[in-house]
Amino acid sequence: MSLRDAYHWPSRTPSRKGSAIKLNKTLRDHLDDLEYKFTVSTDLLKRVTERFVSELKKGLTTEPGDIPMVPTWVTSCPDGSETGSYLALDMGGTNLRICEVDVQGNGKFDIMQNKYRMPQALKTGTRDELFDYIATCVKKFVDENHPEGDKQLEIGFTFSYPCKQPSIDEAILIAWTKGFDIAGVEGESIVPMFNDALKRVGCNNVTLNAVLNDTTGTLVASNYTKPGTEAGVIFGTGCNACYIERFDEIPKLHGYNFPADMPMIINCEWCDFDNQHVVLPRTKYDLAIDADHPRPGLQTYEKMIAGCYMGDILRRILLDLHEQGILFAGQNVTKLRDPLAMDTSVLSMIEVDPFENLDETQQLLENTYGLTTTEEERHLIRRVCELIGTRAARLSACGVCAIVLKTKKQSLMVGTDGSVYNKYPHFKERLEAAFREILGEEIGSKVITTPAEDGSGVGAALVSALQAKGKALTKDILRSRVKN
Ligand code: BGC
Repeated sequence: MSLRDAYHWPSRTPSRKGSAIKLNKTLRDHLDDLEYKFTVSTDLLKRVTERFVSELKKGLTTEPGDIPMVPTWVTSCPDGSETGSYLALDMGGTNLRICEVDVQGNGKFDIMQNKYRMPQALKTGTRDELFDYIATCVKKFVDENHPEGDKQLEIGFTFSYPCKQPSIDEAILIAWTKGFDIAGVEGESIVPMFNDALKRVGCNNVTLNAVLNDTTGTLVASNYTKPGTEAGVIFGTGCNACYIERFDEIPKLHGYNFPADMPMIINCEWCDFDNQHVVLPRTKYDLAIDADHPRPGLQTYEKMIAGCYMGDILRRILLDLHEQGILFAGQNVTKLRDPLAMDTSVLSMIEVDPFENLDETQQLLENTYGLTTTEEERHLIRRVCELIGTRAARLSACGVCAIVLKTKKQSLMVGTDGSVYNKYPHFKERLEAAFREILGEEIGSKVITTPAEDGSGVGAALVSALQAKGKALTKDILRSRVKN
């Protein structure tokens, strides 16, 4: 599970679904309406996937489109011969992790790590505060573990926000996601900010040699332990995927004259899929989330499927039902009005409530929000959670299937990580059912997601190791290529 994930997930296995829901006519009518709006039919799944394929293709050209298809400059997966000790820095939404990974070859590694809480205020503070905090944590780790201070250490930085990557050692932030909103970073190169901060805090023996996305780390780390893995996906607070493409399939890079069959990991950065609003079935709740977001109009796909938003979708539905006089009549809903009041773990807990009368749901609503409910209202709420969770899983499947179709594969092994995948009840089953609906039994059942080895740590170390072997292309290497 990615350490970025903020939520305190319930650890029980999910219960079976509640008995057939008996509701009074008013509740039933409202639920029917929500069922209609949140259900993604097989036909719609296929249409979304078809559009997705065309957007993936467009992103590989110079034509403007929603999905940037970022070349990572990682041109090989590990072949088992990689060895050495590398530092890795993982800047997640909740935690900051510094690791030292001893890559031992043949799928083996040892990892030592320190985790630091990412203060909430930093997410909307200044850029120097953010980078000074990161650099101070790196220095602390290095001082503790390398007190001799004379060894030059190389660090791979897993920065899991959408970036343009001119080379493996450069990254320009496109837009903040996952609740970050810090001025002066979007459109800028983050590497000098990191290096300057290292200097400011007096950490002089660390050199950044690779910047990568968590999906890239997930693919590389999964491929190291499970050779044959060709895609890396995160279904967590944010959502994204990468996969291995052939160089001749990336028209926007043809000027570099690399061999046609040279592999290149492409970070799709698919959270912006359908920003043109052509195919995704957005409800009024999705529209409201978008309107209230610091980046309205962006990250359309992510806002419907990622852990960062599923709680807020539920919160808005509950408030809407209250305002229509359907739920919490005469009660004080102030707590529910706080935009941060509900995270995805709430849906998760409600979906696994083991009691017929949904007593745990009652406790949760009462203790956290001061709200009381009847049993049938709780059954309606649980069904709403299932609708949100199922829609997220089914729409998530479209992106993965689009990669399968784009690459014309008959099967795909997907290294997968993220709190929603690892912890949200039934997510994996719902996802895999949708693979089969979209691709048919034969191919759909051969799209296999497997929990990833720690991509953000081990993957960063492996990418550093690949860089050292010239298989992750630095700006110096790329400068030496003839660009038409
Ligand atoms: C970011 C991606 C990241 C994904 C999963 C998204 O919000 O844009 O870069 O890979 O979250 O962490």
